Amino acid sequence: MSKTTAEIRNAFFEYFQRHNHQLVASSSLVPHDDPTLLFTNAGMNQFKDVFLGSDKRSYSRAVSSQRCVRAGGKHNDLENVGYTARHHTFFEMLGNFSFGDYFKTDAIRFAWTFLTEELGLPKEKLLVTVYSEDDEAFDIWNKEIGIPAEKIIRISTSDNFWSMGDTGPCGPCSEIFYDHGEHIWGGPPGSPEEDGDRFIEIWNLVFMQFNRQADGTMEPLPKPSIDTGMGLERISAILQNVHSNYEIDIFQNLIADAAKIVGSSDLEDKSLRVIADHIRSCGFLICDGVMPSNEGRGYVLRRIIRRAVRHGNKLGAKDIFFHKLVASLVAQMGEAYPELREQQAVVEKVLKVEEEQFSRTLDRGMNILNEAIAQMEGDTLPGDLAFKLYDTYGFPLDLTNDVLREKSLKIDEAGFEQAMAEQQKRSQQASNFGADYNAMLKSEQISDFTGYDQEQGNAKIVELFKEGNAVASLKAGDEGIVILDETPFYAESGGQVGDRGVLQIASGQFVVQDTVKLGKAVAHKGLAETSLSVGDSVATLVDSERRQRIKLNHSATHLVHAALRQVLGSHVNQKGSLVEPDKFRFDFSHLEAVSKQELREIEAIVNQQIRANNPLDTKLMDLEEAKASGAMALFGEKYDEKVRVVSMGDFSVELCGGTHVTRTGDIGLFKIVSEGGIAAGVRRIEAITGQAAVDYTQAALDTVAKIADKLKTDPAQVADRIEGLTQQQKSLEKEIDQLKQKLASQAGNDLISKIIEIKGTKVLVSELEGVEPKALRGMVDDLKNQIGSGIIFLAVKGDAKVNLIAGVTKDLTSQVKAGDLVNFVAQQVGGKGGGRPDMAQAGGTQPENLAVGLKSISTWLEDSL
Ligand code: ALA
Repeated sequence: MSKTTAEIRNAFFEYFQRHNHQLVASSSLVPHDDPTLLFTNAGMNQFKDVFLGSDKRSYSRAVSSQRCVRAGGKHNDLENVGYTARHHTFFEMLGNFSFGDYFKTDAIRFAWTFLTEELGLPKEKLLVTVYSEDDEAFDIWNKEIGIPAEKIIRISTSDNFWSMGDTGPCGPCSEIFYDHGEHIWGGPPGSPEEDGDRFIEIWNLVFMQFNRQADGTMEPLPKPSIDTGMGLERISAILQNVHSNYEIDIFQNLIADAAKIVGSSDLEDKSLRVIADHIRSCGFLICDGVMPSNEGRGYVLRRIIRRAVRHGNKLGAKDIFFHKLVASLVAQMGEAYPELREQQAVVEKVLKVEEEQFSRTLDRGMNILNEAIAQMEGDTLPGDLAFKLYDTYGFPLDLTNDVLREKSLKIDEAGFEQAMAEQQKRSQQASNFGADYNAMLKSEQISDFTGYDQEQGNAKIVELFKEGNAVASLKAGDEGIVILDETPFYAESGGQVGDRGVLQIASGQFVVQDTVKLGKAVAHKGLAETSLSVGDSVATLVDSERRQRIKLNHSATHLVHAALRQVLGSHVNQKGSLVEPDKFRFDFSHLEAVSKQELREIEAIVNQQIRANNPLDTKLMDLEEAKASGAMALFGEKYDEKVRVVSMGDFSVELCGGTHVTRTGDIGLFKIVSEGGIAAGVRRIEAITGQAAVDYTQAALDTVAKIADKLKTDPAQVADRIEGLTQQQKSLEKEIDQLKQKLASQAGNDLISKIIEIKGTKVLVSELEGVEPKALRGMVDDLKNQIGSGIIFLAVKGDAKVNLIAGVTKDLTSQVKAGDLVNFVAQQVGGKGGGRPDMAQAGGTQPENLAVGLKSISTWLEDSL
């Protein structure tokens, strides 16, 4: 029986563990602290610093199965998914690593033995490549392993020199290929037919030797090392006797489930492959904290989701479907990646929201695109149309391309770029960026942090920066950055803001306004009030009152985290936090609003833990040991191998580098001030502690006391009193309305008595008092009904304005137009009006002229009637 993908993954782990390799969990798809990389794209990414020598591990051999995404960045396979047998946006890379331990010979031996003995691949089906200059690797394969020379191909191109990116670890490599057999077209590597599908690379062994610099020079690594990568899907295809990766067990199951969900019966349809591929990348990206957005990683995710939705739509999906496939993904991969199972509900929710949003414009966009295709003369879609689809209908460029490619058409990409550039120029004109010197700063210094148990000390200035440049000294009045050999100042990280305080020297001080990390150095940012130079000794004084408030808040975040999991469930994961002196916020995954009752419970639990007054315990531990002890780690965060574990009784155990209280009782009081949603599936709690919580509570009580005072009752009765007053107010309002109506009809009756006749037509002209201008139209309507035929003119005088209205019954509008009449008067009071022939209104600004204006009406009517 052939092995399942899960069995192959385990066999790989087991083999290398047997050979003293430490099993290391896959790192997040979001590379930590590495701006050179969009997504994790190889197993070695998480070991980059270990290869370079700046990070040390307790082991020198490792094995992993790394989740990788190759979409959107330098390695981008998105557009090929669905068209080939082996391209994926997401795949798993099996790898074994040596950090200055074994080198070429063992790497080659391990790989060969694993393939031929453990997995039992026939030797004659395998061939290998080496870098053309690498005689050593050639000899190992040939003499030690016994591969005939004609099956060892020397490759001189970059194909056999692997580098992580433009900079970073790199070295020559040797690749192992599998021959799928004569019945498939293709030639061996290096031949003109190499792009065919017959000979497939399965394993890349990289002999890491250099660190490529930005200028292209190759610096030798501290020790020669090994990095290997084998695509799990490819090796599974071979062992499961299928040619395409999409035919392996994981994919077949995903495809079958996708077909059921969208209601498709053709399991060979390429759109099903696209969907099965895309649910893997989308599921894991969201699980690793990426949210769909319009830039960076979030935009790549959005593009993949939309592409999947479009393919579902093409298959005839009647409703949103993509999120329904998460359950199937969890069934296939949740065991190997428990984090995926934990985040299932969040992943579903995020996908659902995104899909709903896109579904609103997908149909209209597709109609526009199909119409444009029907009318196209050449084979190129105009760039501005592609841009309109992008900008108005949310069609990423690659989605439009995907549709066109199915019909052998393409986009005028230059035209698209131009339309895009024009829009960007327009929006950039609105914003103005100031120079951010610090963004470009680098420091090679290492500052020792003494601030866990000290808030002051002595140190030496080792580096100074001003306006982005290293300088020898700062003078009084300069803003700059000070780097010290050691410091108690906490540099912003893990959500905790940087410390403030002063650095003192004999002649004065440097005021530290913020503290941040600069590589391994701690940067004190602020203002020099005296001159300082590199080499000066300073006294370091953290603003300890502020630090104390920060500590209270930071320790409280841990209690909140644990309380949230207790009350809402273990799916709650920290998604971010901000710990400031005055308050803190805590973001976490949860699908619905936290009810008042739950918030109260969380608050109660945290306060109970505060009263328990547990001592805070911090320990340095190995990462794996810490995780095994149940310490909560931020998923997707990169931790050093030695981690600091902060525990409060047995209630909370977390990995954390921040500063904390000595006992939980120091927190004093904890109060939640708000709870709300910030993104699909992510909630935020804002809270306060210590004196701030006491002040907040006191202020709230003061307000209640003040209200009670005004209501002449005591605080406990306030709510009842207000309820009573609200009722009373409602009934008074009702009464007032009734009275107003009564008054208006009385006024109407009074007015009827003022009617005069001009040339046999009833005319009513009147200035009213205390009538809302809004009521005038209704009054005119009523009066018209009452008199049957006639002309009505009413005016209301305010402080500096007048409101006029004229009404003419329909039978008279051929003789007199209400608009003419109202304007005749309006112009005498500094105004202008308009309306229909039977009803027109105007305003004016000269109330003092109203009397004359009203008087003039009868003469005007004499002439018009
Ligand atoms: N890092 C090597 C690769 O990605 C193994 O191919």
